[in-house]
Amino acid sequence: MSVFLCCRTPAFAFLFVAAGHVAAGCVPDPIPPFEPPSDTGLKSLARARGLTIGSQFNPADLAADSSLEGLLLHEVDLVIPGNDFKMRLIHPQKDTFHFDTTDGVLDWAEEHDLEVHGHTLMWDKSLPAWVEDGSWTREQLIEVLENHISTVVGRYRGRVAAWDVVNEAFCDPAVERDCIVESGESGGMDPSIWRTVIGPDAIELALRAARAADPDAKLYINDNGYELPDTAKALKLYSYVEDLVARGVPLDGVGIQMHWALDEILSASQRAEGKQAVATLFQKLNDLGLEVRITELDVRLPQDRCASEDFLAGQADAFALALEVCLEAASCPSFNMWGLTDRYSWIPDAKPGYDCATPFDEEYVAKPAYFALSDTLQAE
Ligand code: XIL
Repeated sequence: MSVFLCCRTPAFAFLFVAAGHVAAGCVPDPIPPFEPPSDTGLKSLARARGLTIGSQFNPADLAADSSLEGLLLHEVDLVIPGNDFKMRLIHPQKDTFHFDTTDGVLDWAEEHDLEVHGHTLMWDKSLPAWVEDGSWTREQLIEVLENHISTVVGRYRGRVAAWDVVNEAFCDPAVERDCIVESGESGGMDPSIWRTVIGPDAIELALRAARAADPDAKLYINDNGYELPDTAKALKLYSYVEDLVARGVPLDGVGIQMHWALDEILSASQRAEGKQAVATLFQKLNDLGLEVRITELDVRLPQDRCASEDFLAGQADAFALALEVCLEAASCPSFNMWGLTDRYSWIPDAKPGYDCATPFDEEYVAKPAYFALSDTLQAE
């Protein structure tokens, strides 16, 4: 007998007995209404500060849940389809592109005056099998990369405001296996097929192809886990983008994902120290003439602490400090969260034992994190 709960809310899971077997099933969780927690959504408060606030979402969830649409339209000015621009979904066969979903996202976003952030063009964790399993020469793979980018970016020219051209290309050899480290350096580059077959200039080629396909879109390099500027990964990313800027390679900015675990930054003093370090990183990157965006913020809690007042207060503090760093930076035009509601967060699947990483719970009730963001936007 196996029990399989397919609902996020166990209260709605049920077992049924048929033909002597206990099988598993569930009724879909009823969708709670979205009731705005404040008259003024975060987006209007952010606009008054010159900041664009955004969120990831999955188009399939939006189609099935009008409360999700209500939440997004009330709170954000920018949306990021979480998966649908990734190569595995948008370019599943060598000669086949699947544009239906992203076309629909663009139409919906334009109808509601939302900016669209494209995520992502070059990422080894979302490759279609035809790329991953193919055997390529450098020239052939460059052609694949350039064709992919010019087709996708070209289709949405003038409509997708910014692209994460490259995602998660850097690494720390102490943390990640097979990280490619050049002599004299501590941090390295992810051993993606792009890096191993094309070489270190794969990123530059991708950026140039994106610029050629849409001269007005903002082009970003996006990565995670480099908040602390003295770490191997941050040093490598910094020296890499410094070189790109010096050589005039088209690059507008860098995105920092910020997927945080609260139990790693539990004390207020840890968070205050962390804030200083992150602010230093932003300043270094801004000093190169690059914008910095927060691209994927969420702050996960151990599952059994989701109702803890202390943890929820710490989470609120963490969201607020990320926002403060962005507001105080010379150039941080956009602050984006990887989902606004726990109902559709990637965390329980991707980080076992953790949950409740967003500002609204799965019933669309705002948490202390939401009010901390709202207060921070209104603070002098
Ligand atoms: C995640 C999506 O949210 C999941 O639905 C998917 O199964 C895996 O990818 N960093 C990124 C995002 O850059 O693309 C990831 O998105 C989350 C981590």
